[in-house]
Amino acid sequence: MNAPEPAVLTQVMNATQRAMPHVMNTYGRLPFALSHGRGAWVWDTEGRKYLDGLGGIAVNTLGHAHPKLVPALQDQIGKLIHSSNYYQVPLQEELAAKLCELSGLSAAFFCHSGLEANEGALKIARKYGHDKGVARPEVIVYEKAFHGRSIATLSATGNAKVQKGFEPLVEGFVRVPLNDLAAIDAVARSNPNGVAVFLETIQGEGGVNPSRSDYLQGLRQRCDEHGWLLMLDEVQCGIGRTGKWFAFQWAGVQPDVMPLAKGLGSGVPIGAIVVGLKAVNVLGPGNHGTTFGGNPLAMRAGVETLRIMEEDGLLAHAATVGQVLHDALTAGLAGLPGVKEIRGAGLMIGIELDRPCGVILGRAAEAGLLISVTADSVIRLVPPLILSADEALQMAAILCPIVAAFLAEASSPA
Ligand SMILES: Cc1ncc(COP(=O)(O)O)c(C=O)c1O
Repeated sequence: MNAPEPAVLTQVMNATQRAMPHVMNTYGRLPFALSHGRGAWVWDTEGRKYLDGLGGIAVNTLGHAHPKLVPALQDQIGKLIHSSNYYQVPLQEELAAKLCELSGLSAAFFCHSGLEANEGALKIARKYGHDKGVARPEVIVYEKAFHGRSIATLSATGNAKVQKGFEPLVEGFVRVPLNDLAAIDAVARSNPNGVAVFLETIQGEGGVNPSRSDYLQGLRQRCDEHGWLLMLDEVQCGIGRTGKWFAFQWAGVQPDVMPLAKGLGSGVPIGAIVVGLKAVNVLGPGNHGTTFGGNPLAMRAGVETLRIMEEDGLLAHAATVGQVLHDALTAGLAGLPGVKEIRGAGLMIGIELDRPCGVILGRAAEAGLLISVTADSVIRLVPPLILSADEALQMAAILCPIVAAFLAEASSPA
């Protein structure tokens, strides 16, 4: 096949495509590249410095070039990067045991990303249903949820933009609004095929929407009553981000299945499905597997991330600095009528405006701050957990005037 005319290609290329012509055009990217980082700061290839309010989207738990993590990873790379799951991998056991200790759950399976952890969770839900004689198992999922971009996880996702063009969607999902126990009870009454409830403890991509504690407690009770699995996606909100190891721990409940990823490896790709007793024997040999999952490098990153977090008291730190950031944002944005709500927990904060605000992403970067905008109108901050209180104040000092100027541009929502 002939290659398309270069002139035709050039016409449709934006600045990033011109800079990266051989990479598929699947992301809207800002026009710079990061070259290195230290702590909560990163530098681009032109030497500009940014305060990192994004942390690789809730990934760089320990920030950049952490002095304890770097030598540990170097040591591991020099020993063994990958080992097939044909053999025992002691680091898998070490990380699984630690995750079980921290969560109160019973066992873990390792993979590499959030969507993969969620795919595995959905397989567990279906198999759990089949094992108890439900031939067409259905999983309760949520409006505004985000679980990933594979065919099954985008089907579970509650966002038409993510799903559009990839139909037919996977069947077997029933959708409900968040924080509405009556909707769950209605499903229980009308649907005999329910096997699991699957939600993010705090919705991330959907706009930083927390599940209320009483709602999670109500879900736990209903899951027990109906024999369903409670599956809490902690891919974004887990691993200390909210000031506890897992966000569900604020509600004093325990899930049966917990997908993890993002922050667990502090930047090294990793995912995990952690399960409790109700789900521990659902998958057996031959039911699930992956070539790269649980490789020694990713496992070492997980083990060291959790060890350093404990050693450096990062849970309490995330809660304290999160409060400093929340307070500074509240003070800095006070009185601006376009600010609807500042919400979240610990270092997972969303600022909801009354209008789409995607342009703030670029403006913040120009001012030396990396952030994201999600659900069109929610500015999201998910910085490294090593962020200092002073850096949190700097973050608010950069961001608040940008938000104020943006809101002043148009007096009413677009
Ligand atoms: C809650 C949640 N689940 C799953 C995913 C998908 O993770 P990944 O991008 O690693 O596939 C994300 C990603 O943003 C997420 O926030």
